[in-house]
Amino acid sequence: MPTAPQMSTTTRADAISATGLRKSYGDKMVLDGIDLRIPEGTIFALLGPNGAGKTTTVEILSTLISADAGRARIAGHDVASDADSVRRRIGVTGQFAAVDGLLTAEENLLLMADLHHLSRREGRRRAAELLARFELTEAARKNVATFSGGMRRKLDLAMTLVGRPRIIFLDEPTTGLDPRSRRVMWGLIRDLVTDQGVTIFLTTQYLEEADQLADRIAVLDHGKLVAEGTADELKRRIPGGHVRLQFTDETHLTAAADLFGTATPDDESLTLRIPGDGTLPHLRAVLDALDTTGIRAESLTVHTPDLDDVFLTLTGRQPAAPAHPNSQKDATR
Ligand SMILES: Nc1ncnc2c1ncn2[C@@H]1O[C@H](COP(=O)(O)OP(=O)(O)O)[C@@H](O)[C@H]1O
Ligand SMILES: [Mg+2]
Repeated sequence: MPTAPQMSTTTRADAISATGLRKSYGDKMVLDGIDLRIPEGTIFALLGPNGAGKTTTVEILSTLISADAGRARIAGHDVASDADSVRRRIGVTGQFAAVDGLLTAEENLLLMADLHHLSRREGRRRAAELLARFELTEAARKNVATFSGGMRRKLDLAMTLVGRPRIIFLDEPTTGLDPRSRRVMWGLIRDLVTDQGVTIFLTTQYLEEADQLADRIAVLDHGKLVAEGTADELKRRIPGGHVRLQFTDETHLTAAADLFGTATPDDESLTLRIPGDGTLPHLRAVLDALDTTGIRAESLTVHTPDLDDVFLTLTGRQPAAPAHPNSQKDATR
């Protein structure tokens, strides 16, 4: 794969492009002018909290609903005027899986093969190949109703792949999955791009997921893209990482606040928030400084930037649906 970014941006065609997409439901503005450009063979993540408009964006780009204004092209085809061509090139895996719980995994795949007009023989071959690739061969003859969430999601993705789409929309592919299943899913998504050069448009509420998978990330907030870039570019804009020290008395807290110039003390909770990247050298420096000065902290916790930090930094407020309703984070800012 070419690594020079200037090369890939000039030679790769856009798999997905959109300008000025708008959508309202009644008097509620859901998308307020979205512009996107996603080169072929890349993973793009649309990051945003619940209700940000992620699914609405996917629905417009995949021709399920129409935009009120703006244009979008998928593999060069207009979603509004050439929806059939768009549909032939895309696969969509939604939050509400298309799998039928009363059928077996194999039957679900064969049904999909039928929908794509594969011959019986080709359909069976394709189903077997996908079951093997997704490590579902042993469960192939079991009713999907007995599947775990992770197995269901894998089958859902496998079903999307039956038609060999070149552009795949994954709407929150790992929401609700345990960490292990999430990692398996990430591996499968990565392989799709590496082995087959497909383009992936995924939505997620998790910064970590976007970080792990995406070439480029756009942050959606209240219907607008408030930031766009690589994970590293975004992180540089999000100085949310910090170390938090817990003290048992105010004297030590005040002394520590004086010691670390950039730190923010919270007198009520007796905590001190020290900006930093949470790396070992940074932690060591903090501990050494405390040691040398004889300041005693009771405990230490490391915080890396999360979606709350992204939103706080980019929009100056908490996301619409806070991930941690009881979080005291604001108190120290
Ligand atoms: N069919 C609909 N009718 C009315 N409101 C809708 C409809 N679909 C979505 N919305 C509203 O649009 C906003 C964005 O929804 P959605 O795109 O599903 O967000 P996300 O996928 O980021 O959670 C929400 O406030 C939601 O209630
Ligand atoms: Mg959604």
